[in-house]
Amino acid sequence: MDNSKIKRYTVTAALPYTNGPVHIGHLAGVYIPADIYARYLRSNKRDVKFVCGSDENGVPITLKAKREGITPQEVVDKYHKIIGDSFKEFGVSFDIYHRTSSSTHHQTAADFFETLYDKGVFTEEITEQYYDEQAKQFLADRYITGTCPNCGNENAYGDQCENCGSTLNATDLINPKSTLSGNKPILKETKNWFLPLDKYEGQLREYIESHKEWRPNVYGQCQSWLNAGLHPRAMTRDLDWGIRVPVRGADGKVLYVWFDAPIGYISATKELCNYAKLDVWNPKAEEYYINNYESDKCGWEEYWKDESTKLVHFIGKDNIVFHCIIFPAMLMAHGGYILADNVPANEFLNLEGQKISTSKNWAVWLNEYLREFEGKQDVLRYVLTATAPETKDNDFTWKDFQARNNNELVAVLGNFVNRVVVLTHKYFNGVVPTLMELKTEDQAVVDELASFPAKISASIENYRFREALSEVMNVARLGNKYLAETEPWKLIKTDEDRVRTILNISLQICANLQILVEPFMPFTADKLMKILNNGKQAWAEAGSSHLIKRGHSINEGELLFEKIEDAEIDFQIEKLNQSKASNATPAAAIPAKENINFDDFSAMDIRVATIVSAEKVEKTKKLLKLTVDTGIDQRTVVSGIAEHYKPEDIIGKQVSIIVNLAPREIKGILSQGMILMAENSEGKLTFVAPTEQFEAGSVIR
Ligand code: MF3
Ligand code: ZN
Repeated sequence: MDNSKIKRYTVTAALPYTNGPVHIGHLAGVYIPADIYARYLRSNKRDVKFVCGSDENGVPITLKAKREGITPQEVVDKYHKIIGDSFKEFGVSFDIYHRTSSSTHHQTAADFFETLYDKGVFTEEITEQYYDEQAKQFLADRYITGTCPNCGNENAYGDQCENCGSTLNATDLINPKSTLSGNKPILKETKNWFLPLDKYEGQLREYIESHKEWRPNVYGQCQSWLNAGLHPRAMTRDLDWGIRVPVRGADGKVLYVWFDAPIGYISATKELCNYAKLDVWNPKAEEYYINNYESDKCGWEEYWKDESTKLVHFIGKDNIVFHCIIFPAMLMAHGGYILADNVPANEFLNLEGQKISTSKNWAVWLNEYLREFEGKQDVLRYVLTATAPETKDNDFTWKDFQARNNNELVAVLGNFVNRVVVLTHKYFNGVVPTLMELKTEDQAVVDELASFPAKISASIENYRFREALSEVMNVARLGNKYLAETEPWKLIKTDEDRVRTILNISLQICANLQILVEPFMPFTADKLMKILNNGKQAWAEAGSSHLIKRGHSINEGELLFEKIEDAEIDFQIEKLNQSKASNATPAAAIPAKENINFDDFSAMDIRVATIVSAEKVEKTKKLLKLTVDTGIDQRTVVSGIAEHYKPEDIIGKQVSIIVNLAPREIKGILSQGMILMAENSEGKLTFVAPTEQFEAGSVIR
């Protein structure tokens, strides 16, 4: 979009599912780059609304509720608070952190659906959908897993394969399995409303092809979907958690979470503008509060409907299709909305060489980091930006985290600022000395300093945050080189005026750093502001060598960064090792057999029985011939337990027996059933029996 035409910006960050805390993968992929961008725009005095919120509908929430044994509402309340608090503490500068369980959102999403419905956009289709007979529930999205037809990943979800990124319909899965019961689902008819994506194919192609500047991964994924041909996609689900479908004949149905969630960006903007009166979580205030009703004080519609607004979605790569195909198609169908100008999606971040996994607890959780590395928000912000997975998957390691802190933040940035501050206090009592005559080497530094802001701006505006950050660090490197070459600590004895000039320029570099680091490391910018005591400057001032006036007093220094010791890193690595250990199957345990369905299980008739008599089977080492009372009858069973039990010791003992196993002849004896035994890793056998005396014939199930 032509910069001169842009009047305002709407910056969105993917709404996190409210089923667990946020981890470093989310931060590196979405929230840190989005925050850098929004802070940079604000520093440039641009009009920006930076919106986000909790994604509280859909199957991820109900699944979590089931697993934790609490209600979906309790799940979202718990994690909305944890996520909202940790974003705030981490310095993610959302203008609002909203939530999709709010009434503004329910209203907005339902209205949106109704508009499309009234326009006749949807097709109403009765299709066969998977159904879990035991759970008595339709299985959509994450309620069903199976093998991806595209890449063979055995754990693809009903709506998406996270391995190859393709969008799926549940019925595409090979070997579908209910995540509720593990059963193979049946097909059952149900009515749903479909968005005919195929009808928007032409418009979508035109839209995407007008954005050849998008990252190759984003543009490429869009092209491959378009080339594969788009199909109608159900926008409603047979579920009981979510936003009710606002049309007649839709009882028990809710909006598809990927229909309502992106509308969450719109409802967050409405909420921010006080479009409606209700209770919200405001990250800037302390907690939930009741809005004072002021109708639309910032004009939310301008941020979504005006052509001079630049809309940018920050997302992870698994969200590309939803933001580049489905949501734009919804907006096109609705009419009146602008489309995203860019969708900078990141690849994935791995942790110590392995894919981050919530269920395996293979992650660094933001809330834990904030507790364990108090006051070190900027270190994580720095490391995750410096290693951001912008063009390919990347790896986070604790050793690298430590090295970047110690060798870059402490040794380059912190060291430069500290030396300048200490020398200014030592030689000039903390008063900014006068700039005297400039030598060529001084002028060269001044000129080079002036060239940085434009370079950094260009990188940020093109969503190349790693590159931008490394240029910021080069400003500190320039400062260090200048000090090393001019050696003011030697000159002070012979040429105080030279030292005045050198320290003046060095202080200007520090003041520039205050502006330039702010989007990336806002806490460090704050510390610099306190030390330099020179207020806050806008981005436009950066590059200048006259930011701090002579005669101005700076404050005592404080260290910007501290060295991180091995012990802290070892602790983190140990924590991960514990996750690894608790995930590993114990050496002795035999892996589980393939799943059976409930019917297979209930076909087995297992009873409590009492042993009436026992004797060894002749010419065998292992076999005993038992007579047992099954409650149904007295029968003969041959059992391979002679090495574990003496016949005389087991008379009267209770055991479990499968009574409907087809009879088999063993050593000429007809064995009618099988006694259940537990076997440990050393091959020792023991009876499986009720823990108290129980009536023979009792059913085991
Ligand atoms: N909750 C989704 C995820 O974590 C992202 C939703 S983005 C939105 O993958 F656009 F739908 F809001
Ligand atoms: Zn796949």
